[in-house]
Amino acid sequence: MMYLQTSDCCIEEFKTLLNDTLRNDEVPFAAEVVSNVPVYNMPELQQALNDSTERKKLLSEWANVMLNRSGVVVLRKTYEDTGVIDKASELFLSLINQEKEQSGDKADHFAAKGSNDRLWNSLQKLAKTNPAAFIDYHANPNIDAVCESWLGPGYQMTAQINLVHPGGKAQQPHRDYHMGFQTADTCEQYPSHVHSLSPVLTLQGAIAHCDMPVESGVTQLLPFSQRYQAGYLAYRLEPFKEYFKENYVQLGLGKGDTVFFNPALFHAAGDNKTANIQRLANLLQISSAYGRSLENVDRESLCKWVYPELQKRHNAGSITAAQTHALLAATAEGYSFPTSMDTDPPVGGLAPETQHQLVARCLKNGASVDQLCAELQALTLKQRA
Ligand SMILES: [Fe+2]
Repeated sequence: MMYLQTSDCCIEEFKTLLNDTLRNDEVPFAAEVVSNVPVYNMPELQQALNDSTERKKLLSEWANVMLNRSGVVVLRKTYEDTGVIDKASELFLSLINQEKEQSGDKADHFAAKGSNDRLWNSLQKLAKTNPAAFIDYHANPNIDAVCESWLGPGYQMTAQINLVHPGGKAQQPHRDYHMGFQTADTCEQYPSHVHSLSPVLTLQGAIAHCDMPVESGVTQLLPFSQRYQAGYLAYRLEPFKEYFKENYVQLGLGKGDTVFFNPALFHAAGDNKTANIQRLANLLQISSAYGRSLENVDRESLCKWVYPELQKRHNAGSITAAQTHALLAATAEGYSFPTSMDTDPPVGGLAPETQHQLVARCLKNGASVDQLCAELQALTLKQRA
């Protein structure tokens, strides 16, 4: 069977896969290996990054660690000049305050209300607020190199600020975008090779905007867990959660350090047990150039053009459910992302309603063409950055 099911998940298999050790000789560019996580001192690696042969070797080392070995790298002093980080922090914090003033203290759908502040699309918001600070912040060749090592050239950067206050609670262990944002039911509908594909379509990273000792709740990581193919189904299961709790590792970060990991690595933000550290990180989600279609299609218009005739046939019983599904798959956008997380939060799941689901819902409810058009337009507006 080319499908994975939650019932296939086996904790013993998982444990065997995780019973491994990253050796120093596998990561010759690393300054040290701590709890199976290779730690790189970026100022020392500038020469290597500027030499094409050495650069390939270093990028290859990172890719191998993230794909086949422990799944995560820490890059110390990714920003040697932490003044750049401080300037960006100041702007991000004022943007957070502005948003609070405008829309009140919204709950973040990835944490309990009040425990954190989130600034969605910090990339765009920073550029709009202060282009010079944006340039200083994003013109970082170390980040460019690690993104290239995982995704190749042509990648697409997105970023979100997460500020966790003292007392902020740990997350449950999980995997990240794409499949990590889907329910187990949805994941089961994708054939097994797509479970292997999902992690190579994105890279997950974080820039530390302050010193983050372990007690401030720096990300908990489970080395080697990205290698478990059924992990998108397994991470919600009790034995896997327990195993995570007993075996995760945490590496303190300094301001300007970064961590990058395979999005299939089991991980969770930790408890902020400090009294005074506002744990500020910019989370980077970098997408492969290849996660795109060949052509641009105006799917909103397509849906509007097709709907009246589809509704006629639906009401007359001359189109089957299977045919309708096929038609909508060819017509409407079938995925929730990319979107604006500010205006299009997930409803009743981990991902917001798709255009396909919207049209299917309208059809089922007997919505008029005008109603459909209004809903489609509202969705397009919600998704716009
Ligand atoms: Fe995550």
